[in-house]
Amino acid sequence: MQDKAIGIFDSGIGGTSIWKEISSLLPNENTVYLADSKYAPYGKRSKNEIIELSIKNTEKLLELNCKIIVVACNTATTNAIKTLRSTYENINFIGIEPAIKPAAIHSKTKKIGVLATKGTLSSELFAKTSDLYTQNIKVIEVIGTGLVELIEAGKIDSPEMYTLLKSYIDPMIKKDIDYLVLGCSHYPYLISVLKKMLSNKVTIIDSGEAVARQTKAILKANKLLNSTANKSIHTLYTNGNVDVLKDIIKPDSTTTVSILDF
Ligand code: DGL
Repeated sequence: MQDKAIGIFDSGIGGTSIWKEISSLLPNENTVYLADSKYAPYGKRSKNEIIELSIKNTEKLLELNCKIIVVACNTATTNAIKTLRSTYENINFIGIEPAIKPAAIHSKTKKIGVLATKGTLSSELFAKTSDLYTQNIKVIEVIGTGLVELIEAGKIDSPEMYTLLKSYIDPMIKKDIDYLVLGCSHYPYLISVLKKMLSNKVTIIDSGEAVARQTKAILKANKLLNSTANKSIHTLYTNGNVDVLKDIIKPDSTTTVSILDF
């Protein structure tokens, strides 16, 4: 059981930002990653569609013999994790949510920006978390329409990306935010572009490291950590463009990337 893989899925290649954190914190663990790029972006879809897609991905990861599932997608977590947990009672699910709490705690201007998909920002779970931690804080929520599509098309460093991202960030800067929460697992790939438009007074926060720590804690608590000394194997599948996925993760000899129909 312990040498079974950690299963990870996202609507596309963005969740590899989480996969990187997990494989670096847990070097003994095997991983299987599903990039559901064919159905990206999830952010525009209805709650029911997001639940259906999350179940489809979970079924595939279980078929591929995974011992735990990381939902490396804020949109899928905020809309579907409750259903996943009640449908698959014997499997542990780890989710990802925008890291509002640390931003709210540390903000000096008491103004924080959250950049996320429409699906995440309109979810009940996001509203609940936001209410809990931002009593005296102004939260400037912005939907990152089009950002996931450009990342999925391999256009991270393009002029189009710069212009679009700037149109979302400038209004937040004008409102004096000192923390920017990246509420989508695709967005950590935009940090270098974001740094060109943000002063060093604004701290960027994403949830990747916290998700990796939580994954480790849950594996440990359930005695599922892999104690075999073998070198870990990473298997990544996409139902979209394999070259874009390879380009973003730069596979080494322990990692295979291929196309799968799911
Ligand atoms: N990476 C995703 C997230 O964290 C999904 C974005 C999308 O497909 O719209 O929300």
